[in-house]
Amino acid sequence: MPFLRNQWYVAAQSSEIEARPFARWILGEPLVLFRRRDGSVAALEDRCPHRRAPLSAGEVLGDEIQCGYHGARFKGDGTCTLFPSQPSGPGRGFAARSYRVVERQALVFVWMGDAARADTEALPDWSANTAPGWKAVHGYRHVKGHYQLVLDNLLDLTHLPFVHKTTLAQPGMVEAPTKVEVEGDVVRTLRVMREVDPAPIHRVVRKFEGKVDRWQTSEFRAPGYIGITLGLRPAAPGELRMDEVSHMVINSITPETERSCHYFWSLTRRFALEDEEVTRQFREMTGAAFEEDAALIEAQQRMIESDASGRSLVGFREDQAGLAARRIIARMLEEQSQRAAA
Ligand code: FES
Ligand SMILES: [Fe+2]
Repeated sequence: MPFLRNQWYVAAQSSEIEARPFARWILGEPLVLFRRRDGSVAALEDRCPHRRAPLSAGEVLGDEIQCGYHGARFKGDGTCTLFPSQPSGPGRGFAARSYRVVERQALVFVWMGDAARADTEALPDWSANTAPGWKAVHGYRHVKGHYQLVLDNLLDLTHLPFVHKTTLAQPGMVEAPTKVEVEGDVVRTLRVMREVDPAPIHRVVRKFEGKVDRWQTSEFRAPGYIGITLGLRPAAPGELRMDEVSHMVINSITPETERSCHYFWSLTRRFALEDEEVTRQFREMTGAAFEEDAALIEAQQRMIESDASGRSLVGFREDQAGLAARRIIARMLEEQSQRAAA
């Protein structure tokens, strides 16, 4: 199955990119990223146009990257400034392919399609990663599974009591149906749980012991963005305030190949901002939970790949949101192939 190309994808967490080459495959293409002296990030195809050596095996010199094989030097826009053994210069057509890059909200995004169509309006709004009044912990997991399996996982949270027994398991979750709403290319879900026991993570970070009221929303945007907001309060009668968000899980999933992906997550909270202990607990418990998801998805990928029966997967009530996301991606892929054929 092909990938959606005219899209922004997260290539890295900001903290991963320094003034040395950083290699990562995205949509089956090798990229090399590096930080220039002014702090801006450049992304090139990680194949030297000379003999295809990986540029990431070379080094960054000032604002340029030097191929480690015969020393060709490239600027962040792909222009070759020097080919040491060719005194007349390499000629104008000799350049590395470059990608549009935007760095914001602690993430580095690359545009994987036609650069002329790159539109910063299409970037996800992950401002809760860096906005005042929020405190985020970040994580990354390479997952040996198709990226849509991660989307399915995040859009059907009824797996929590089974997969995340010691961290996120939420009593009352499986019983409370999710309301799913599709608006254009966006899928939104809402689940409300009243007078339930707190999940282990909430006992730890919020010190909630008695019954709680909880609500959870999620929003999917193509190609691989899912924002989950969570609210909870000690159980009480009366309306819930959906805008009283306790914390938010920000998920960006980038395909690496047909059978693997990059999972970037952050958990960003609006309480106990200065409390290092809460930061540590969130980092540990969320990291442990997502490790459980990744292991499960990798096992699922192996079983899907090895299944020659041709049987399709089954969709039940709580698969609705995941199926809606899959329909949106399938339609966008269809539009992409029609445009390519036109
Ligand atoms: S392969 Fe890069 S300079 Fe020769
Ligand atoms: Fe999970």
